[in-house]
Amino acid sequence: MASDLENLKSETLEALAQAQNHAEWDVVRVGVLGRSGKLTGLLRQLGSFPHEERKERGQSLNRLRDELTKLIEARGKEIEEDALQQRLQAERVDITQPPASARSGLIHPISRTIEEITTIFAAMGFRLAEGPDIESQWHNFSALNTPEHHPARTEQDTFYLPGIEGDDEQRVLRTQTSGVQIRTMLQQEPPIRIIAPGRTYRADHDATHSPMFHQCEGLVIDKCITLGHLKGCLIEFLRVFFNKPDLPVRFRASYFPFTEPSMEVDIGWSKETGVIGAGADWLEVLGAGMVHARVLSNCGVNSAEWQGFAFGMGIERLAMLKNGIADLRSFYESDLRWLRHYGFSSLSPATLTEGF
Ligand code: DAH
Repeated sequence: MASDLENLKSETLEALAQAQNHAEWDVVRVGVLGRSGKLTGLLRQLGSFPHEERKERGQSLNRLRDELTKLIEARGKEIEEDALQQRLQAERVDITQPPASARSGLIHPISRTIEEITTIFAAMGFRLAEGPDIESQWHNFSALNTPEHHPARTEQDTFYLPGIEGDDEQRVLRTQTSGVQIRTMLQQEPPIRIIAPGRTYRADHDATHSPMFHQCEGLVIDKCITLGHLKGCLIEFLRVFFNKPDLPVRFRASYFPFTEPSMEVDIGWSKETGVIGAGADWLEVLGAGMVHARVLSNCGVNSAEWQGFAFGMGIERLAMLKNGIADLRSFYESDLRWLRHYGFSSLSPATLTEGF
């Protein structure tokens, strides 16, 4: 190869090695292959060479052009790849880092309370059960031994839904989660140990009542279950939930159609200060009782062989007490300032050892 071509080749190689980014590389490329590039210039001058030299020089120039084109392209790719790698490094997102708190979402206190309740009962061997919000009157009332003319069945209390064609029984928005007891016993043989948190509905709306609210049902069916088990289980739950190992718990005789005996469960608190576990006052937090033999037989469970207890609690009430929330309606107003204040970080889920 003629020496000027050799020079052009080595010059170009050096310039390519020095080019560190696309702009510098492009200067080299244009300087060699562009319209006024060096190689283009040499090709143009070819005509001025004597005829006998022209053929050989032409071939050399074409070879050089192919060679340099390849080298320039290869270096271009290299620079592009380096730039991509640098960008990937610079823009790397560490997904293990917590999100900036101002932008992250928070867990609603109702969801958090359900999670806490579930965690505690899970540790006691309870399973989660579910039922539909739109429930048959049979599951919501009749199977639970609630008489035809019980006040809970009136329209002041219950949302009735228009009849569904081909279905003569009118449906209701479930007024309690207790229907899940029925569904569970029909689906599964004892022994049973479930809780069923979920939405419930009643035609009621004031500072302490919302037409939609949440309950958590519990049901235990086994051999030789006694009132002692019920008391032990609920005392344990309440003390862990409120994080007060000596929380006073009181069982007060009451009436529910689906339990016999029935009771309401109170915890000790001070009406004046609102402090839980201290003071001379009592606050009702749960309904409970031994499952009525008629409820068992409605579900085909032999009450001579199996017994059990059930309980139901209002989730809003527990969440309000534990977190110092004054007005029930604030749960559903979607006020972001309220949610930021009472919400929980999604990165610290409820566990038995931390947070409560
Ligand atoms: N379902 C009742 C209510 O809404 C609460 C309740 C009381 C549930 C006693 C029970 C129970 O399972 O045994 O007021």
